[in-house]
Amino acid sequence: MLRPSPFLRAARTLSTFLRPHLAGLAGAALTMLLVTGIHLARPLILRELIDTALPARDAGLALRLGLAFVGALALGAGALYTRAVLLAGVATSVMARLKGAVFGHLLAQDLRFFDGHPPGKLISRVENDIEQMRGLVSGAAAQLAANALLLAGITVLTWWQAPVLGRWLLLVVIGGGVAVAVYARFIRQLWHEVRERDSEMAARVTEFVQGVSLLRLFGREEAAVERVAAATRSRTDLEARGVFYDAVLFYGGFTFLAEIGGLAAVLWYGTGEVFAGRLTVGTLVMFLELLRRFFGPLRDLAEVFVALQSGLAATGRVFGLFDLRPEGAGTGLVAGDQGTTGGQPVPPGAAAAASSVLPLRVAATAGGGQTGAAVAGGSGLVPVPSRFREIAFREVRFAYGAEPVLHDLSFAVRCGQRIGIVGASGSGKSTCINLLLRFYDPTAGAIEIDGCDLRAFDPRAWRRKVALVLQEIHLFPGTVMENLKAFAPGIHDGRVLAAARELGADRFIRRLPAGYATVLAERGANLSLGERQLLCYVRALVRNPDLLILDEATSAVDAVTERRLQQAMERLMAGRTAVIIAHRLTTVVAADRILVLERGRLAEAGTHAELVGRPGPYRTLAAMQGLDLGARAGRRGRRERRADRAAARPAQRPGPALSAPAAA
Ligand SMILES: Nc1ncnc2c1ncn2[C@@H]1O[C@H](COP(=O)(O)OP(=O)(O)OP(=O)(O)O)[C@@H](O)[C@H]1O
Ligand SMILES: [Mg+2]
Repeated sequence: MLRPSPFLRAARTLSTFLRPHLAGLAGAALTMLLVTGIHLARPLILRELIDTALPARDAGLALRLGLAFVGALALGAGALYTRAVLLAGVATSVMARLKGAVFGHLLAQDLRFFDGHPPGKLISRVENDIEQMRGLVSGAAAQLAANALLLAGITVLTWWQAPVLGRWLLLVVIGGGVAVAVYARFIRQLWHEVRERDSEMAARVTEFVQGVSLLRLFGREEAAVERVAAATRSRTDLEARGVFYDAVLFYGGFTFLAEIGGLAAVLWYGTGEVFAGRLTVGTLVMFLELLRRFFGPLRDLAEVFVALQSGLAATGRVFGLFDLRPEGAGTGLVAGDQGTTGGQPVPPGAAAAASSVLPLRVAATAGGGQTGAAVAGGSGLVPVPSRFREIAFREVRFAYGAEPVLHDLSFAVRCGQRIGIVGASGSGKSTCINLLLRFYDPTAGAIEIDGCDLRAFDPRAWRRKVALVLQEIHLFPGTVMENLKAFAPGIHDGRVLAAARELGADRFIRRLPAGYATVLAERGANLSLGERQLLCYVRALVRNPDLLILDEATSAVDAVTERRLQQAMERLMAGRTAVIIAHRLTTVVAADRILVLERGRLAEAGTHAELVGRPGPYRTLAAMQGLDLGARAGRRGRRERRADRAAARPAQRPGPALSAPAAA
């Protein structure tokens, strides 16, 4: 969307990033003044040479003027070089901080935001758009300012020497300015569109690369290449159009006519004045020289203009991100702005500050549930109780989009309890977890911790108490050790080793090529599924959470691995408050309470024994999975639970490691 005054908005936000570089910018401004002065001085020197030194045949003066002319040239070149170096330095540093701030701000967004923005597009925002802005900061904007300064200087100098010519020049400057401004409004939309297609292309490339094995399986590589090529073509066509318009306007149209007209006018008026004795030859030459300099920058604008408009469009897109409110900003009950919607601009300062809290620890989502650097929080939020007594869903309603997913869902999890959630695919089990971790907030109703609305707490502080093992396994590029620590600094290696031993993962990790220092590929691609799952359990245990949430993976592993994983899971849950989403009912047979969800509603709840003791969806499910439906089921469940807890005692010898060739 086109912003009302992108230049001003961009300048305002940019100024917060530029503030630490005032010295460098002042230096650049100084060199700019110097260059402009030199540009203006050279025609004046020329006039002195023609009007004074040559008629008087004064060789000494001619030499001095000649030296001054050459010296001015050299000084100008030096000043230009200095300006370029200074600005490049500023731009590099500003872009680096800007990238940090934008990335931090992105991570702080509500998960809804990510539902609607594919990774490729976001990468394009952080990378390409900010790189486009570099040209704006280091080149185009400076060039524009230098040219404007020079045009103003020439106009003033001409006016001073010959008011009639000066007035004409002023007319040309104003007319040109208006024409350029009108044109800029028109062309900016086009550049915005070019940037938009850039990001679409990045999105496609990302998706195809991520799904490369699938592409290969279906033999669709050529189609993927063609789709990316088509996106490239449409973008290039658009860009070519922009460049063409610029060329027509700046080379062929406006500047061309103005230059010819200007030259004719100066020659006609100037020679008349020389004949009448009111103007010296030197002054006429000076005017012609000034005029040449006047149109040079105007023509240069064509090149600057592309960079400028493209950079401005990129700036609009990047700074548009700062208009997004970070997660929880509009829902914090205590913050007092509940119910507000739409873009509350985040002060750029806040965004800049976010960039300073951006080390890798943000990359801890799956095992830690810890996201984002700039999550709204801090002031006005209730401290999370050090040990909660009860978590309660109270008539929670929720929809991702228009379709409701949860309907008036109410249940409670008391400290120390183990709660199982079962239900058909799509019944809303994972959604409950999303709400519990405040990845999303309920549409109606509330989740309460000891009677206090979850939205009143700092989401980051709350998530620190929780460990999450997700349905989708996620490991980050880095070593096994780093992953097990979820990149959190300050965790001792010993704690990780103890956790790995406790869950029987130590032996398999030590068998990896570099043990705990083995570098994992993206998403843990160089491990088997069972191994990845086990690492996720260890990662959760390292957090020593108050609340453990397990979203059981449906993916099939062999029977031996499954047994090992079950054991590890049992040990992980021992003595903790746990919410387990289960697909295999054996996982929840021992739970204190089992909730059965049906299309977002609580269909029934109770212990395994209670639920199999009466007809209902759970009993049907249990029968389908071949579970014992007899009255002894409950007792068996409890016995099994006791046995499992005994097995999970820390004194227990570590279980055998996963079989190396576990199912992939
Ligand atoms: N990010 C999302 N955006 C929009 N709709 C979603 C999103 N995530 C889930 N849904 C929808 O919400 C409903 C509940 O999904 P949920 O993931 O909670 O199911 P589930 O019970 O965990 O299923 P499964 O057993 O397959 O994991 C589904 O209809 C799903 O299509
Ligand atoms: Mg799910």
